[in-house]
Amino acid sequence: MSAVLKQEPRLVAMRESDLLEVLAIENAIYSHPWTRGNFADSLRAGYQCWTWRGGSNLLGYFVMLVAAGEGHLLNLSIAAACQRRGHGSTLLAETMRMARGRGALQVFLEVRPSNGGAKALYSRFGFRQVAVRPGYYPAQAGREDALVLTLAL
Ligand SMILES: CC(C)(COP(=O)(O)OP(=O)(O)OC[C@H]1O[C@@H](n2cnc3c(N)ncnc32)[C@H](O)[C@@H]1OP(=O)(O)O)[C@@H](O)C(=O)NCCC(=O)NCCS
Repeated sequence: MSAVLKQEPRLVAMRESDLLEVLAIENAIYSHPWTRGNFADSLRAGYQCWTWRGGSNLLGYFVMLVAAGEGHLLNLSIAAACQRRGHGSTLLAETMRMARGRGALQVFLEVRPSNGGAKALYSRFGFRQVAVRPGYYPAQAGREDALVLTLAL
């Protein structure tokens, strides 16, 4: 019987050819997902766009802008079937390592007040709320605020 090798997940630079898979996850886990154009623009703009792959399976991804000493985490997502297994924590730690490596002293991100899971993850990492952007997100009924969180690196 041949042994089944379990491959440790790894970061792989996101490419346009990943976008079908990325969008399948994105559309499954968000009420208001990013569009293909949002990802394509981020790739074209040279943002940090990375996939998190276990073997050939896409487990998650992130998009981050690092400029002028600040990281702005724009998207961090883990496939529904892979959540609550530590992947989000590992990927978040990777974003911070990458931001630090590119000279960022602080990371910012926005989160919906209704997103309890993400808020719990960020607070575990020491993120604190510094601002509220009123009506930032589209929501089922009207708009939803964004909480702006930051962490010093
Ligand atoms: C938020 C998200 C990235 C977390 O990824 P994950 O792989 O599930 O996270 P982890 O397994 O590393 O969880 C770490 C900790 O975060 C907290 N957490 C994560 N998801 C949670 C949830 N749904 N409810 C409550 N706490 C949660 C817990 O404290 C958890 O530790 P525990 O499992 O030991 O209790 C993932 O749920 C996701 O992609 N959600 C949809 C997209 C999204 O909301 N992205 C963030 C937008 S700002």
